[in-house]
Amino acid sequence: MKNVKWGIFSIVIIISWFYWLIPSFSSMTSLPYDDEQEGLQDQLTIRFSHVVAEHTPKGLAAQKFATLVAEKSNGKIKVEIYANATLFTDEEEIEALKQGKVEMIAPAYSKLTTLIPEWQVLDLPFAFPNNEAVEEALKGKIGHILFSKLQSFHIKGLAFWENGFKQVTNSVRPIVQPNDFHGLRFRTMPSEVIQEQFRLLGAIPKVAPFHDTFRELYYKQVDGQENTISNIYSKRFYEVQPYMTISNHGYLGYVVLMNESSWNNLTKNQQQIIIEALNETTDWMKTHAKIINEKQLNEIIHSKRINIHWLTDKQKKEWLNHLQPLYDRTRPQIGEQLMKEVLRIQQKYLQ
Ligand code: LMR
Repeated sequence: MKNVKWGIFSIVIIISWFYWLIPSFSSMTSLPYDDEQEGLQDQLTIRFSHVVAEHTPKGLAAQKFATLVAEKSNGKIKVEIYANATLFTDEEEIEALKQGKVEMIAPAYSKLTTLIPEWQVLDLPFAFPNNEAVEEALKGKIGHILFSKLQSFHIKGLAFWENGFKQVTNSVRPIVQPNDFHGLRFRTMPSEVIQEQFRLLGAIPKVAPFHDTFRELYYKQVDGQENTISNIYSKRFYEVQPYMTISNHGYLGYVVLMNESSWNNLTKNQQQIIIEALNETTDWMKTHAKIINEKQLNEIIHSKRINIHWLTDKQKKEWLNHLQPLYDRTRPQIGEQLMKEVLRIQQKYLQ
């Protein structure tokens, strides 16, 4: 009996000791209060990856979009931006989006063409004589058809964002006539239409990711490239390329894409916030993409590091005549409906 009493007494002592020890142990491991962590369990994070610099139309638009989403959701939705290909390069980002490794991207149209060849319609040279022509294409039948093609890849198309028309730079000679391209090597985006454009001009295309372009130019692995002013400026291509032709021969814009299941997992209210923020950003970009490109062209001119030739209307016609066979060659991949519409828009806006 005495032993039983001692046994019960020892168990009570051991249990009380544990009760005393556990709170003091947990107070050692619990973190001090941090108001930034408040409500984090309710916060939704959307990772947005892109490949250009922060002070370009796309870089600034992504930041504006993130700010608008934070405001409209009272901080409940956070858009985390990864610029300059820090998360994924342009070669990786579409696959990463499909696999849900990133929720949002905004690639140049040309980057989609290896997955969906119909997107090449936007890369046809001189297809869009001005910004109004681009807008009519994207808001109308062309934009609608291209968005619908994304569905079978479980990608949600959300918006078209502007940048601007492409210009040509190179390190060998001024490019004025089509035959000035002869024998020169050009870095291109992956679109087959763009590669064929350079072949038709007698040049040699080399596909390379955007983040490698400066190195390719610097080490003379290619002689030139085509891009918007904002990319030529922000990535300092003009410092290693003594010749630039303002040709406006092709348009470079973006499509904002989201992983389909990430989109479907959002509540109706969250989707509404994203759409509203995107619409406001798209409107902002309409005026600002142009202003940014113009301002940066002025900076390039003032740097006096590059000779610039502005293509005349007559010279543009010569380039277009040279490139005309491309329209017939790519018709089977682009499809009759898109081809008919792009030609209608081209004719409407061509002076
Ligand atoms: C390029 O690869 O030259 C562009 O697509 C980069 C960009 O996203 O503007």
